[in-house]
Amino acid sequence: MSIEKLKTDIAIQFKQAGKCYVNGSEKQMVLQNITGDVPAGAVVTLVGPSGSGKSTLLSLCNLLLTPDEGEVRIEGKEVREWDVNKLRQHAALAFQTAPMIPGTVHDNLMLAARLHDISLQSPEELIQYVGLSKNILPRSAEELSGGQKQRVALARTLVNQSSILMLDEMTSALDPSAAKEIEELIIKIHKDEQKTILWVTHDLEQARRVGDYTWLLANGRLIEKAETHSFFHYPEKELTRRFLQGELAGGKDL
Ligand SMILES: Nc1ncnc2c1ncn2[C@@H]1O[C@H](COP(=O)(O)OP(=O)(O)OP(=O)(O)O)[C@@H](O)[C@H]1O
Ligand SMILES: [Mg+2]
Repeated sequence: MSIEKLKTDIAIQFKQAGKCYVNGSEKQMVLQNITGDVPAGAVVTLVGPSGSGKSTLLSLCNLLLTPDEGEVRIEGKEVREWDVNKLRQHAALAFQTAPMIPGTVHDNLMLAARLHDISLQSPEELIQYVGLSKNILPRSAEELSGGQKQRVALARTLVNQSSILMLDEMTSALDPSAAKEIEELIIKIHKDEQKTILWVTHDLEQARRVGDYTWLLANGRLIEKAETHSFFHYPEKELTRRFLQGELAGGKDL
């Protein structure tokens, strides 16, 4: 285990974190009083109705957005104290669309390496690890299928040697069999690399399968956080029970 890892056994810590968006003269609190720890090496699945603030919460972890209230700590250090590049190397974010830079698959991997000053020893080995043929390296990345792009996006996070992986609806645009394959790849990466994963998903079966812990966000508040088994079988909060029964369509009906 690296010295970096030994510094803290909490990978991500939210302390009364809050975020508001300003639209013209209107101020909307989209996250309020979020307090919770993501243990190093754990998979935390984050579920909640559309608009409840899940993507916003991930954005606070790698400074795509800054918290307006409270603190967000990554490996013990408050996000605002991190160098942004270093932070994004440590806490990689991958989402549904898996955007590729124009150029080949190889270019996409090299860019990730160059950005973080990392030497990429064997792109062939890496691309095979994520389940693609090495013949794909010279192909245009933008022309890949959705599932292939997801694999390249995951390969990029491996180049970065990020210790934290944040996934935002990573598999929701894929057909069920491609989604299952990507899910299995993520679990393999988690096991092989001991990465901490904060995983936003709308798929409750997926959340139940992959999570060690599950958190429910609704209307910008962290309603319940529990071990995944307890969350699904013995939810403590009435809102969680309603959510699991499919009664919470959006944040507004709370
Ligand atoms: N750039 C923005 N400016 C203003 N409001 C925003 C912005 N981005 C998000 N919001 C609002 O913040 C709230 C939370 O949005 P967020 O995208 O974090 O929700 P979510 O849980 O990820 O939803 P979904 O499941 O649909 O992806 C919503 O009410 C949304 O309309
Ligand atoms: Mg979202």
